[in-house]
Amino acid sequence: MTYETIHVEPVTPRIGAEIGGIDLSKPLGNQTFKEVHDALMEHQVIFFRDQHMTIDQHKAFARQFGELHIHPMFGSGDLGHPELLIIRADETTKFAAGSGGWHSDVSCDPEPPMGSILYLTEAPGTGGDTLFASMYAAHEDLSGTMQRFLSGLTAVHSAPQVYDGRQEQSPQLRDETPPVSEHPVVRTHPVTGRKALFVNEIFTSHIKDVTAAESAAILGMLYEHIRQPKYHCRFRWRANSVAFWDNRCAQHYAMFDYHPEVRRGYRFTVAGDRPV
Ligand code: SIN
Repeated sequence: MTYETIHVEPVTPRIGAEIGGIDLSKPLGNQTFKEVHDALMEHQVIFFRDQHMTIDQHKAFARQFGELHIHPMFGSGDLGHPELLIIRADETTKFAAGSGGWHSDVSCDPEPPMGSILYLTEAPGTGGDTLFASMYAAHEDLSGTMQRFLSGLTAVHSAPQVYDGRQEQSPQLRDETPPVSEHPVVRTHPVTGRKALFVNEIFTSHIKDVTAAESAAILGMLYEHIRQPKYHCRFRWRANSVAFWDNRCAQHYAMFDYHPEVRRGYRFTVAGDRPV
């Protein structure tokens, strides 16, 4: 992939790139939009430093990539943006959003989000990193036999446990009942055509049409596989940084190791389609 209007510096060979030479507060021209989108497709998560955006500018940047997703349970309607998620942790926080395990955002939705754009305006001195894992790489490294076996399986995704952490941060519940959805264990990315593992330890409750013990064994094997650092990159936040991840092929884990320091920001989420 060649880039003419932005600078793209890979973080690891398999996932993550830092993007330079761009101001996200301004509308992207056609070529720059294409290159940012290409970089996201190539690297699965992209990072930007030293960005200064109002909520409206952040939303406008996200909106260039598609319709915005409204979280089925949480929202910040009080700021006039039902699509906005406020991310904040301080000395009163017992559980930070996204720190409960590796996940792909809201995979319990029938049409889970395509991507999430997190802008932190305040970051702890150290800690509070977000880790990302490539579900392409994790799938590619499985044996052909295991890939064929998984390709016939369907998983159920639901989210009762996700309530606990987020309620503290975003007390306005939109709906008491999280959605429950069925998705293929291996999905094909609609843009790249690459195959990615699509089960995660936060939202996936079980695999269909196998016994509970078999489901637990398959998911346990896959989660252990996904946890291998060779599939990961780790983003060290500074204030005014942005991470944009593709939920269709990357999982993430928010490290909550900075209590009682403050970590604060905003997330807009781009809508996606039904996994196939
Ligand atoms: C999330 O899962 O959206 C939160 C990620 C983070 O705070 O780093």
